[in-house]
Amino acid sequence: MRISVIGCGYLGAVHAAAMAELGHDVVGIDIDAAKIKQLSLGLPPFFEPGLQAVLTSAIASSRLSFSTDMADARGAQVHFVAVGTPQKNGSHAADLTYVDAAVAALLPHLGDGDLVVGKSTVPVGTAERLAEVISSSGSTALLAWNPEFLREGFAVADTISPDRLVYGVPSGAEGKTATALLNEVYRDALARNTPLVVTDYATAELVKVAANAFLATKISFINAMAEIAEVSGADVTQLADAIGYDARIGRRFLNAGVGFGGGCLPKDIRAFTARAEELGRSESVAFLKEVDSINLRRRQRVVTLTVSQVGRPVYEANVAVLGLSFKPNSDDVRDSPALDVAVQLSGLGARVVATDPQGIENSRARHPQLTYCVAIEEALRDADAVVLVTEWPEYLSIDPAWAKTLVRTPVIIDGRNALDAAAWRAASWTYVGLGRP
Ligand code: UDX
Repeated sequence: MRISVIGCGYLGAVHAAAMAELGHDVVGIDIDAAKIKQLSLGLPPFFEPGLQAVLTSAIASSRLSFSTDMADARGAQVHFVAVGTPQKNGSHAADLTYVDAAVAALLPHLGDGDLVVGKSTVPVGTAERLAEVISSSGSTALLAWNPEFLREGFAVADTISPDRLVYGVPSGAEGKTATALLNEVYRDALARNTPLVVTDYATAELVKVAANAFLATKISFINAMAEIAEVSGADVTQLADAIGYDARIGRRFLNAGVGFGGGCLPKDIRAFTARAEELGRSESVAFLKEVDSINLRRRQRVVTLTVSQVGRPVYEANVAVLGLSFKPNSDDVRDSPALDVAVQLSGLGARVVATDPQGIENSRARHPQLTYCVAIEEALRDADAVVLVTEWPEYLSIDPAWAKTLVRTPVIIDGRNALDAAAWRAASWTYVGLGRP
């Protein structure tokens, strides 16, 4: 099949590469010439394990190309819209400028019977409105909404082998046509019996935000339990194990710590709240404001713990911050709790030295005032407190005895409850977890 992917950010670049890997002929289109140039060379503009290999082989076999010219979308039967929907400046709502602009730019190039497929995360009601934009332009192209559930760090595998497929399609014969085209796109996944849910537009849009709202709630739930554990002497990690054995609850996404960040969960729950307010149902998702508040409080907690543990005024303390990206295997620092903690500690006057295997460049672009270093050893040297905020494997395997020879004071704040507390204590460290005695 010939496919175009409009928008080559995280979602679009991975989607274009994955569709080519599945054997489709794909053109990825973006207005950012530098990004297109880089992608054309097979180089991902961000860190994502496995993406470079897929890009390179698809480009070499001529199944994948990139362009800044929307006219190159002509001839494709299916056009995925994968542009960003960031948080609006000064508001919690989603900014739909890029989605609207992409659809408007695509309109003159649509052929009869083409299918436009929205992949971006949008407020419920957007697809209905865009379908109207397409039909009122005189085009016979159809619209479907096909949300994406990929996780950064596993983006290629998640796109090629998704947990489930969701198609939001129009009613009647048009819906059948759209479904048939999408079935052709996802032939491989469907052949492996990947669950498929075909819905109307509104349900498909809501599935995506509901899934992210649920995941965020699960994390904030366990972090709320961590807050209670902190005042009662309980251990939230054991609590998570014990409730997680209940299959109805499940252990995944119950890791208490510094909380969630990234380009999706924080902005999506805020945009969901804003949309519910517009729809007159703010009370239905009022709890998401609590989810957001609990999440932000955990960053504060790590900062407060560090200040209370450094053993000297914070403005005289050296603090090593291990981790900047919002999670391991990513260079993404958007809304990163780790970067936020580093910035807050530096704002209090601590001499912060931060390290991360991939996130330094993006962090420096946002916060040039921080001191960054690549080597763990350099970050640890003379530290009065070490703060682990992103659980990269290389940090989990640090030998506490070795680390002790580098620091000034052996204090470790484990902001992810990911280290072996007993091993660190055995090496004479003061180990402090979150929600643990
Ligand atoms: C998320 C959703 O998982 C994905 O389905 C959606 O398409 C996009 O948003 P992603 O942002 O890549 O994916 O990250 P995810 O792995 O979900 O982690 C989100 C944040 O939650 C990270 O900061 C992570 O550290 C944090 N987290 C996760 C916890 O604090 N505790 C947990 O138990 C799990």
